Amino acid sequence: MQRTVTITDSATGKTVELPVREGTAGPPVVDIANLYRELGMFTYDPGFLSTASCASQIAFIDGDEGILLYRGYPIEQLAEKSNFLEVACLLLYGELPTAGQLRQFEERIRHHTMIHESLRDFFKGFYHDAHPMATMVGVVGSLSAFYHDSLDIHNPEHRETAALRMIAKMPTIAAASYKHSIGEPQIYPKNDLSYAGNLLHMMFSVPSEDYEVDPVAEKALDLIFMMHADHEQNASTSTVRLAGSSQANPFACIASGIAALWGPAHGGANEAVLNMLSEIGTADNIPKYIARAKDKQDPFRLMGFGHRVYKNYDPRARIIRQACHDLLAKLGAANDPFFELALALEEFALKDDYFIEKKLYPNVDFYSGLIYKALGIPTNMFTVMFAIARTVGWVAQWMEMMAEPRQRIGRPRQLYVGKAQRDYPA
Ligand code: ACO
Repeated sequence: MQRTVTITDSATGKTVELPVREGTAGPPVVDIANLYRELGMFTYDPGFLSTASCASQIAFIDGDEGILLYRGYPIEQLAEKSNFLEVACLLLYGELPTAGQLRQFEERIRHHTMIHESLRDFFKGFYHDAHPMATMVGVVGSLSAFYHDSLDIHNPEHRETAALRMIAKMPTIAAASYKHSIGEPQIYPKNDLSYAGNLLHMMFSVPSEDYEVDPVAEKALDLIFMMHADHEQNASTSTVRLAGSSQANPFACIASGIAALWGPAHGGANEAVLNMLSEIGTADNIPKYIARAKDKQDPFRLMGFGHRVYKNYDPRARIIRQACHDLLAKLGAANDPFFELALALEEFALKDDYFIEKKLYPNVDFYSGLIYKALGIPTNMFTVMFAIARTVGWVAQWMEMMAEPRQRIGRPRQLYVGKAQRDYPA
């Protein structure tokens, strides 16, 4: 029997029965698509606290249990056994690839790592101290001017090529944004390197010297990229879907996702964590900053703590917390005053009643920022790293949406609280 929820308008006594849809996991949803037609009402849910914006098969989060699945596979198992490009393949196509399929996928990604020479010149137009995220928004959006002739978004093969192009070119564009910000020449990709290794090469090598990719850094980056590859309908992914729902160019849609990711409440948190730690300065200042975080009159929040969905613990944070502690020990950086301060803050907050009661745990970005710093990645590149990884999720979600036979433009409604209709003064 179809499960339903009944809503009664207390003013008119009119009743409507709404169908309930069950997913594979997670809470069921009340299908309100016909609510307006039946009852003449919209629903009101600012921040989408109780609203599922789409049906998706890509990722699943159980915030209370601290579970994250990519296509059904727990993130912990992928972290242990998989790697970023295999995860990319899984997210895009729905199944783990065979060895042959993975090789083919890697080859296709490698084939697209270069960017058009004209696009390389775009970077020169940015002011020398432009934030790399600002450059990313502009340059990724500009890709839409390069491939429009060969891109029919109604053709699944074209969509796939656009998706692979985007994944392949992100490290090249990211590294070029960084090189521009420090006044060094752009470095071409080297296709015998891994995805993460190639990024490190393009960021840190210079034409005048040999550069060898540090395998510790390469492995740590690959792990963080896996953790960040997708996170279902977060703000940036929803932005990509909404932009894409108008059938806009996919590169422009990804640029809109990058813009949404940039904010400190989302992907910008990893950069904000480092800035906050610099501001705190020394461990004896921690209680003062914790008190500020609790003070409702003070806008200060402890960056890298709390999550909209994980109200228990962020499973990605658990994985990279361990990786972070291991890496600091391996690099001999655990006694560095900066990392000591970070770990002291982590310990302090985990024991504090306010943070315990509100279930505010360190999130993935608390630790990713620390790992990036330990690897010598500059602070203003942290969110760019996140964008590289999340590109996989963005394109996978865009492809899923575009393949829906009844795909419609996203168009939320509103509760209007402005002036009622009035006449222009005579
Ligand atoms: N420091 C202090 N207090 C906090 C923090 C924090 N970091 N986060 C939440 N709170 C408090 C809020 O003030 C609120 O208190 P109240 O109930 O007394 O009003 C309560 O905890 C719930 O917070 P909300 O803002 O309602 O939670 P929401 O789900 O809307 O926000 C968010 C989640 C944006 C992540 C928030 O926790 C935050 O701002 N954290 C810091 C920024 C950050 O680390 N962002 C990264 C998110 S992870 C990612 O994007 C990959």
